[in-house]
Amino acid sequence: MPEKICIFDTTLRDGEQSPGCSMNFEEKLEMARQLDRLGVDVLEAGFPIASEGDFEAVKAIAAEVRRPVIAALARASELDIRRAWAALEGAERPRIHTFIATSDIHLQYKLRKTRAEVLKQISDMVGLAASLCPDVEFSPEDAGRTDRSYLIECCHAAVEAGATVLNLPDTVGYCIESEYEQMFAEVKARVPGIDGVMLSTHTHDDLGLAVANTLAGIRGGARQVECTVNGIGERAGNAALEEIVMALYVRRDALPGYTDIRTEELYAASQLLTRLTGVAVQRNKAVVGRNAFAHEAGIHQDGVLKNAITYEIMRPETVGMPANHIVLGKHSGRHALAARYEELGYPLSKPELERAYELFCKLADRKKAVYDEDLIAIVDEGFEHLPETFAIKLFQSVVSSEGHSTATVELEKDGEVFHDSATAEGPCDAAFRAIDRITGLPGTIVDLSVHTVGPGTDGVAEVAVRARFEGREFTGKCTSHNLVEAAARAYLQAANKARYELERRREAARKTAVHTHAVVERLFPGGY
Ligand code: KIV
Ligand code: ZN
Repeated sequence: MPEKICIFDTTLRDGEQSPGCSMNFEEKLEMARQLDRLGVDVLEAGFPIASEGDFEAVKAIAAEVRRPVIAALARASELDIRRAWAALEGAERPRIHTFIATSDIHLQYKLRKTRAEVLKQISDMVGLAASLCPDVEFSPEDAGRTDRSYLIECCHAAVEAGATVLNLPDTVGYCIESEYEQMFAEVKARVPGIDGVMLSTHTHDDLGLAVANTLAGIRGGARQVECTVNGIGERAGNAALEEIVMALYVRRDALPGYTDIRTEELYAASQLLTRLTGVAVQRNKAVVGRNAFAHEAGIHQDGVLKNAITYEIMRPETVGMPANHIVLGKHSGRHALAARYEELGYPLSKPELERAYELFCKLADRKKAVYDEDLIAIVDEGFEHLPETFAIKLFQSVVSSEGHSTATVELEKDGEVFHDSATAEGPCDAAFRAIDRITGLPGTIVDLSVHTVGPGTDGVAEVAVRARFEGREFTGKCTSHNLVEAAARAYLQAANKARYELERRREAARKTAVHTHAVVERLFPGGY
């Protein structure tokens, strides 16, 4: 009889803490709502002691997302655990997830503690967590490289102290499947009191084995799996949620479990995460990559047309990927556009639809067909939350054969139009300099990445820019048919964010100065 496998999503914790994947408060909430729609059983919302932002995000998610268990991470220390609990208190189903490293390598070089000291800390801290919260998960970090007998002792201590879930992480992605499976089987067999305690996998993809190891863990007795959307996470990432879910679904004949995930929401979750972080999945990414269901070879196309089962082990619709990528053309109206966005998981407000429609019409004029990827890119461009102090009215770029380029830009701010041009070696540089001349806020490019969106040579270019203004870094992202224009718009977005933030800081500093002056006046009337 197949058993339920609980999906523990850690996109907002292990995933979010990896470079380039950070999200702000609103973005985390938006992702949490999609994870709820997806049907995850446990949603690890963050690491509250790590920052004020993480604390606030966990608190807000706990208050709003009521169906899944909401977990918060804490090191095995009193301060961390109390902070996690403070963030979780309002949750319908809270879980404190506490961890400490148990491998000799970590004990010796990182913690500088003895095995006995760590064992006592596990008892004390799991005990403290259990006194606050009815649901406590314990992770012996680097379990995969921990001496087996000591691991059993640690697990026993955690269970005795009240842990309801035991998670055995392969923190560094070192294990091979047989070892990982065996670890679960042994913990299950040797830890006294383990019945009634849920075993959980947590794998990293350093050797490309994260999903395979997760499935091995299930074979060994795990009934919870920890994973992230698109497999984002530390270094090579965590096990990809969509791959585990679809492996269990497609190969239910061979694997011992099922999940309650709404598979039709997988693609929307993947796309949303890409939109929020700017980190795209590779084209050939299993399940959600753009090519995952594309059949290029004539012999394959022929087979699929006769019967999809010839070369498809799952249907694109099952994962929520639109079967027909060509959706709209220039004769499509607002209604069709709104409906398509709705299907893609982007319910648009009236003003948002107007903005999207305007951009869609421009694109449809230039392209034969508008693809879903184009529509998503349009939404990205039109949904900049921060106020755009400057907006591009006109953009022209001339590249000369002599090796220098000139850009001319017209920007509008509060109804006033500014016009300037600049020359530089490259066309993007010329555009950035022309913008700088108008905004009066020169920036330095830290990173600029380009990728094309949508199939075919008429796809749009998506440019992500990271630039430094007055010592602080800001990002911008934009899509356009014209690569240089996309770069200019992305740069302007970053510059607008910088202006907004710097003005906000100046205003705060001004208020503090006025306040200080008032206090000094009160204490020392007439000067001091
Ligand atoms: O990889 C790891 O060990 C972790 C733990 C905190 C569970 O992320
Ligand atoms: Zn991890």
